[in-house]
Amino acid sequence: MRGDSEKEYLFKVIDTFQKRLIVVSPEFKILAASYGSDGKPRTEIVGKQCYQVFHDRSSPCVNCAVKEASQTGKPALIPKPDDSLDLSRMPCYYSYPIYSGKKIEAFVSMDFDLPTIGGLEKKMKQSNALLRNLIFSAVDGVIAADKKGKILIFNETASEIFGYIKDEALDQLNIRDIYPDNLEYDVMKKLRSTENDGKGKLRSYQVNVLAKNGETIPIRLNASIVYEGEKEVATIGFFHDLREELRVKDKMEKIKLQLMQSEKMASLGKLAAGVAHQLNNPLGGITLFTKLVLEEYDLEEGAREDLHRILKDAERCRDTVKELLEFTRQTRHFMQPHDINKSISQTLFLLESQTLFHNIEIEKNIMPTPPPILADTQQLNHMFMNLILNAAQAMDGKGKLTLKTCKSLDGNRLNIEISDTGPGIPENVLPHIFNPFFTTKEEGKGTGLGLSMVYGIVENHGGNIMAKSKPGQGTTFIIEFPFTILNNKGDQIG
Ligand SMILES: Nc1ncnc2c1ncn2[C@@H]1O[C@H](COP(=O)(O)OP(=O)(O)OP(=O)(O)O)[C@@H](O)[C@H]1O
Ligand SMILES: [Mg+2]
Repeated sequence: MRGDSEKEYLFKVIDTFQKRLIVVSPEFKILAASYGSDGKPRTEIVGKQCYQVFHDRSSPCVNCAVKEASQTGKPALIPKPDDSLDLSRMPCYYSYPIYSGKKIEAFVSMDFDLPTIGGLEKKMKQSNALLRNLIFSAVDGVIAADKKGKILIFNETASEIFGYIKDEALDQLNIRDIYPDNLEYDVMKKLRSTENDGKGKLRSYQVNVLAKNGETIPIRLNASIVYEGEKEVATIGFFHDLREELRVKDKMEKIKLQLMQSEKMASLGKLAAGVAHQLNNPLGGITLFTKLVLEEYDLEEGAREDLHRILKDAERCRDTVKELLEFTRQTRHFMQPHDINKSISQTLFLLESQTLFHNIEIEKNIMPTPPPILADTQQLNHMFMNLILNAAQAMDGKGKLTLKTCKSLDGNRLNIEISDTGPGIPENVLPHIFNPFFTTKEEGKGTGLGLSMVYGIVENHGGNIMAKSKPGQGTTFIIEFPFTILNNKGDQIG
């Protein structure tokens, strides 16, 4: 037995020890414990079971250094369960058996952090697997390349965006191949510059990339250079596909424009309807009384001619009022299932004989028996008349007019395309063509109401219209109408 003063020193040394140290019996009972980190004795745990105090269990732990030391009779060191990614240390439980003769009397146990060497490899593997999973399941395309542009990482989303399978990208692709027009140099220049997001970093840079099939894809790119010391060794980029985002934005923009257009039409409609009604009565009076005077009085030829002129002008005014009412949709319409081919042939029949059409080749690429659309025949004729006349006027009587009808991709709508080989519509004019009274024709030659009327008609039928044109490349008007759903008796049900 050691002397009391020696024991006292030993206890002091143990209590100043930074780690938690306990002595447990072979039955896991705590016989002694070092002072806590607060410098106070931890007498409250003495006498209790170690698994209960430290692990809140009712029986010994499965992974227990005391158990192992008791089985082997030797000091035991077992790793603690640990999910941290700190690779520099490996937390362990350590247990040292204290013998009395040949019998183990107690165990000294403590937590221990081992500088990892053996565990390092396992941990590296674990963290590598974690990183690999993170990269491969990322929602953005992740591509890393070495200094020569050779691809090092190409995740699943990158495959979806670019259309290369991973092995193909790793073996054959160079990072330069995914940028059109040497854009890679721009990206690298921006990455190396200290101006934007700091040296070696590029954030939210919108750039076009090239897919395997040649498609250009808009991307938001976050990228960085990987350095070893000062030396650039690789680049890594996160490619966010913007196609869907831009499609939605574009659609919203179109809807906004359509709404603005409808609002304009609605307010102008109200105004025009008011004016038209005001004019209708006096016009009726002028026509009626002029006719009466012509019938009842025996007038000389000159006076009769003047009255006929008044009558003709009054009738022209009445027609304009009618057009205005038509345009503002204040007249009653008769909607019924309608064969679009009838409107096309009727309109062409009226127009083809006119001189303006003599040198225009007309190509019809239309469905022979299109499903019916719910429409007002007169309005549809009016629509075709305006669009075809515009085309012929734009071509100045020489060129090719193409009429095409087909089902939309989803099969629910009828698409009508009217194309001409005219001079096209300049970019700055295109947004205004559906505006009421917008015309580029000389004064007196056009009212600028044609297309706004067409717009009103299409809208009235639940359809859409848009114009595609590039100066010098002709113009195409594309109209979509919903089909009428008929039941088997031929009645319209939708
Ligand atoms: N097929 C086309 N090619 C080129 N420009 C066109 C075409 N269709 C319409 N436009 C342009 O759109 C403008 C508006 O057309 P809209 O039919 O509304 O009026 P307009 O033809 O000028 O007059 P109106 O129809 O009263 O004769 C035209 O002045 C023209 O600039
Ligand atoms: Mg017109």
